[in-house]
Amino acid sequence: MSRPEWQLRPARPQDRALIKRFACAAPTVPWEREAEHFIQHGLCDWAFDTFARKNDPRLLLLFHRKSGELVGVAAHERTELRYGRTQPFAATKLEVVAIARKWQGQRFKSGDRVSDVLLSAVMTDVAARVPPRHARVFAIAHEKNVRSIAALVRHGLVEELSRVDPSYRRLVTPHRR
Ligand SMILES: CC(C)(COP(=O)(O)OP(=O)(O)OC[C@H]1O[C@@H](n2cnc3c(N)ncnc32)[C@H](O)[C@@H]1OP(=O)(O)O)[C@@H](O)C(=O)NCCC(=O)NCCS
Repeated sequence: MSRPEWQLRPARPQDRALIKRFACAAPTVPWEREAEHFIQHGLCDWAFDTFARKNDPRLLLLFHRKSGELVGVAAHERTELRYGRTQPFAATKLEVVAIARKWQGQRFKSGDRVSDVLLSAVMTDVAARVPPRHARVFAIAHEKNVRSIAALVRHGLVEELSRVDPSYRRLVTPHRR
C-alpha cells in the first residue's frame, strides 16, 4: 500500500517559526484573522507552556509529504463539561482547526478533502487520549464561518450548546459513554 500524500505529527518547540508564518485568513474576514492571529502569536505558548500541561494540550501539524509544506494546523485540549447538577466529566475542546490558504477547498490526489483529513486526524487523536476525554468534543465557531461549521458538522459536532457570546456557536458531539 502506498503512503498517503500527507503526513501528520505533533508540533515540537522547534516548529515555532513555521507556525508563526502560517497564513489561513482572508484579509477582510475578521473571524479568520482572529484564528490566524491566535495561531501565529498564541498557539505555541498554549501548547508548550508547562502550566498548560494539566489540560493535555495537543497541537497537530499536517504536512504535504513531498513538498514539506505545512498544510494544516489543529489543536485540542482537555476540559470539563457538566449538565445541571451532575458531576463534571472530562471532555475535549477543539481549540483551533485551520488550513493554509492555498490548500483551502482542496482535495489530495486520493480524493480526500484536506479539511476531512485534518478533522479526522484530530478526532482520532482525541479518541486515543488517556485518560479518555472523548465523551464530548466541542468547538466554538463564528456563526458566519460557514466553512468551519460545515466541516465540524461533517465530523460529528452536530449538537449545540448555549451561546456564551451571541456571535459564536458552540458545536458539540452527542454524548458518548
Ligand atoms: C475552516 C476551514 C478549516 C475549512 O476548510 P476548507 O478547506 O476551507 O473548507 P472545505 O473545502 O472543507 O469546505 C467546507 C464546506 O463549506 C462549503 N463552503 C465553502 N465555501 C463556502 C461559502 N463561501 N459559503 C458557503 N459554504 C461554503 C463547502 O462547499 C463545504 O461544504 P460541503 O460539505 O457542503 O461541500 C478553512 O476554511 C480555514 O482554515 N479557515 C480559516 C481558519 C478558521 O476560520 N478556522 C476555524 C476557526 S478555528
